[in-house]
Amino acid sequence: MLAPVKVGILGLGTVGGGTVHVLQHNAEEISRRAGRGIVVTHACAKVLNKNHPYSTDQILLTEQLTDVVNNPEIEIIIELLGGTTIAREMTLQAIANGKHVVTANKALIAKHGNEIFAAAQAKGVTVAFEAAVCGGMPIIKAIREGLAANKIDWIAGIINGTSNFILTEMREKGSNFVDVLAEAQVLGYAERDPTFDIEGIDAAHKLTILASIAFGIPLQFDKVYMEGITKITSEDIQYAEELGYKIKHLGLTKRTKNGIELRVHPTFIPNKRLLSKVEGVMNAVMVESDALGQSLYYGAGAGALPTASSIVADLVDVTRTLTTDPGNRVPHLAFQPNALVDLPILPIEEIETSYYIRLSVLDKLGVLAKVTNIFSENSISIEAIIQKEISSSSDHVSVVIITHQVLEKRMIQAIQAIEKLQGLIGHVTRIRLERCA
Ligand code: HSE
Repeated sequence: MLAPVKVGILGLGTVGGGTVHVLQHNAEEISRRAGRGIVVTHACAKVLNKNHPYSTDQILLTEQLTDVVNNPEIEIIIELLGGTTIAREMTLQAIANGKHVVTANKALIAKHGNEIFAAAQAKGVTVAFEAAVCGGMPIIKAIREGLAANKIDWIAGIINGTSNFILTEMREKGSNFVDVLAEAQVLGYAERDPTFDIEGIDAAHKLTILASIAFGIPLQFDKVYMEGITKITSEDIQYAEELGYKIKHLGLTKRTKNGIELRVHPTFIPNKRLLSKVEGVMNAVMVESDALGQSLYYGAGAGALPTASSIVADLVDVTRTLTTDPGNRVPHLAFQPNALVDLPILPIEEIETSYYIRLSVLDKLGVLAKVTNIFSENSISIEAIIQKEISSSSDHVSVVIITHQVLEKRMIQAIQAIEKLQGLIGHVTRIRLERCA
């Protein structure tokens, strides 16, 4: 057997530690699969967690990233720095040094992947990123390789565990967003600064990558429409229940005759659909493709060992390909680099979907008629309309409307007109609704 492959790791925190642990704990199984051992010989870390369940005896520790990235003995670099500035610099430097890179950094790939893959291609090295999308769930491999025979029509996924946990808790306990977010922070599911998760940015990074490997298009993070879960109220969650839906934060990318839809936002999903049953911090991705039909992938989207599972799988893949001709390796974005196509990404006004609309109006003759007239003038077909009973302490009623599919720009016009009506209280709440997901 060949000598073990030497790996250098940038960042030995939770995920890095998990990776070293898995490599050591499953060393024999891994080398039986890879054809040779895989060992971390160098690590860059500032502080080491004292209670780590792995041995650092064989690992040379340093505080200088370049000690690892420029070390000629190392063949594969694991990049776990986070962020996009130093991570980009180190990744490009590792590539320039002829090293393969394994990364869990979704922001890095979504924003700089086109540049990084071009550099890797030119140098004949691989940049592997399974852990960047949905942590431990092998969704990149499933789509890029498992579905290689298929033309993919759409992907819909619950790809941010923190948002899914918050929405699940809000529904199960009837709690409000702010309280559940605080609980998620105590449990370690949400960061102290939760912006990336609750504003949809993390999901948009992942969706950018999924869309590229599904449709063979360049990575285009700046074109993703992004809405997070911060405006979801327990009232809407309760109405969703009554109407037979769940509200999920969904990443959705769809091939249409006019271009590609690329959007992340809260979404009504019918209770009977499998995605609606994915609860807590779990991730799930549904893919519709022409030969296979619908397929669903489910698993842990975060955590030390699940993420390490994907990183180590990438290390095994890279190790197996060390001796293959670079031209015969699995292309980074599933399609050969010269076969990527520049399909237009549709602006959100041009997407087509159904809607849940909630408004509060004074209980006066003719107000509801005016609202339905506006829908009709904008060619929006109403599927269901419910007026909630007026309570004795209030002079206004909530009206909930479910529409058929319509172009988003028509809905924008209708909402603008409704918000000018006398008798409307506050703003119109609008949540997109997907029946197929
Ligand atoms: N914070 C992410 C989530 C995991 O909640 O799904 C890492 O992307």
